[in-house]
This record gives sequence, C-alpha cells and structure tokens, in this order.
Amino acid sequence: MLHPLEQLRDEALREIESATDEQALETTRVKYLGRSGSISSWGEQMKTLAKDEKPVVGKLLNEVRNAVTAAIETRDAQFRLEKESGALARIDISLPGTPHEIGSLHPLQQMHERAIKIFRRMGFALAEGPDVETEWYCFDALNTPPDHPARNEQDTFYLSDGRLLRTHTSTVQIRAMESAPPPLRVIASGAAYRRDEVDATHSAQFHQIEGLYVDENVSVADLKGDLEFFLRELFGSETEVQFRPHYFPFTEPSLEVYVRSKALKRGEQWIEVAGCGMVHPAVFEAVNKARGDKAYDPEKWSGYAFGLGMDRLAMILFDIPDIRLFAENDLRFLRQFA
Ligand code: PHE
Repeated sequence: MLHPLEQLRDEALREIESATDEQALETTRVKYLGRSGSISSWGEQMKTLAKDEKPVVGKLLNEVRNAVTAAIETRDAQFRLEKESGALARIDISLPGTPHEIGSLHPLQQMHERAIKIFRRMGFALAEGPDVETEWYCFDALNTPPDHPARNEQDTFYLSDGRLLRTHTSTVQIRAMESAPPPLRVIASGAAYRRDEVDATHSAQFHQIEGLYVDENVSVADLKGDLEFFLRELFGSETEVQFRPHYFPFTEPSLEVYVRSKALKRGEQWIEVAGCGMVHPAVFEAVNKARGDKAYDPEKWSGYAFGLGMDRLAMILFDIPDIRLFAENDLRFLRQFA
C-alpha cells in the first residue's frame, strides 16, 4: 500500500501535468508546497511520530518534496517556452526593417580627427584637461600677471567659486608637464571660452589644438618646421606659411602664424591660424614648483608651444563663412559634411 505521502505526491504530479497555464500551476504549488500546503504540513506532523518512524518518513518527505518541486519547474519552463515561441511566431520576418537615420561627424570633429592623425604621425601623444579650470592653470602657471587684461571679468567667464572656463587650451601644457617629466610631445584639442562680442569670426565658445614639445635643444626652427609641415599636410603642399612677431606671457619669443594658398577658396588672403612660441622659463619654474622637483630645469630643457584655432582651420578647409554655423545645429548645414 502507498504511504499517504506517496499518494499526495501522485496527486500533485497529476495536477501539475494537467495545469493549463502558469496561474493554475502556481495555485497547485501553493496547495502542496506553500506554507500551509498539504506536503509542507507533514513537516509539522513529523514531531508527533514515534522515534523509529521519524528517519523513514523524513527521508520520504524529502523525496516527495523534491519530486513535486522538480515537476513544477519543468512545467513552468514549458509554459515559458510556449510563450516565447508564440511571440516569435507573430513576428513577420519578411517585413522590411525599421530604418535608422545614420548621422555624420560634425565638421569640427572631422577637423579634430584630421589634425590628430597628422600630429600622431609626427610623434605627438594626446593629452587632455578640463574645460572648468582654476586661475592657476589658466593664468598664473602660464606667467600671466594678476593685472593682465585677459584675466578681466569682461574677457573671462568666472564661476561663483572663483574657478573659470578656460580661455585657451594652454592649461593642458601645465597639466601635461605636471604629470610627466621631459621629454614630452603632446597635443590637446578642445573647447575654450571668452566673453567676446559674437560675430562671423568670434564665438563665446571656440576650439583650439594645443601643442607642446619639450626636449633638449628644441629651437624656433623646430617650431616653424613642424607647424609648416602640419599646415601643408592639412591644406596642401602649395600652402605658404608666415610667422609674425607677437606677444604671449608664456612664450618668448612669441609668434603668430598665417597661411595662404592658391588651392584654398580664399586665394591670396593671409589668414591667421595660430599663436606659438618658445616656452618661457617662468612656465617651467611654475611647473617645477607644483611638481616639487627640478624636472623641467630651464637650463637643460627647452620647448615650443602652439595653439591652433580649430574653428578657423575648419572654416578654411571646408570653406565655411561664419563660425556661428558650427553651433546652430542646422541640418542643412551639417548634411553638407556627411
Ligand atoms: N594660448 C594662446 C591663445 O589662445 C595661443 C598660444 C598657445 C600661444 C601656445 C603660444 C603658445 O591665443
């Protein structure tokens, strides 16, 4: 004769087998295995059994519980499988897919990538720094005195906590030298901000490509040769490059860079594209002070730095007449560079 527990098991298995949906299966599970389910309540009854009966019934109870649990899981998996294949059957795989609009790179991003590609070939590594900066990285470390007009609230966006939006990417020169000893050859590209009057060639946010090369015996000849090489790679071999004397607090001597090329739409006109110069010894000293060592000994190391106007380069390269177009997000403009 079957033990009552075995009868219970067979009854449960029959019910599980005939359950028609997940709901019915769950009802069956609760009925047998729930807190006060009929199999579970045997656990309570165990206490009342004679000592020699306990291990036998205990073992049986385990077996029954395992068998019923396994049967429920199997049936549940069946239900889930049916549901999934039902959903799949409703998909018509012969229908055409939903088309996605594929965007294209913004002309400034394209410019960034072209520039990086050329500079990488010249041995430059990529560096970066934040747009929100301290006065120290933007001015002090760059040998810019407290009364310099660039530090004026009319020219620079200050945050209420005293930090500012960097007015040039030269901040990354300092960050790069702080984090690695010479020799160093890095470029950094990104946004800069000035409170300029906005017009066709000025925007409150513009973009620069900063370059820094520090080694023994770096000279103005290296600076001129490297920039000329870059600009000819970018604009074509007929491009003429001109250097004019200028002033920046963080370079000495300082120069401005102009280009002209018959291959370009602007023809005979000289266009300013960069500021550059030889790293001022005071910049090396500021870096040494921050590093707490003498890694950038101005007696031993020299370097050049430049800041190319990325918007300007892109405007020349793609013949774009107005800097404001970069930020207007007009698809008629952007699609021309897809
Ligand atoms: N930071 C300067 C500017 O924004 C450009 C520059 C960079 C000049 C590096 C010299 C060296 O005008």
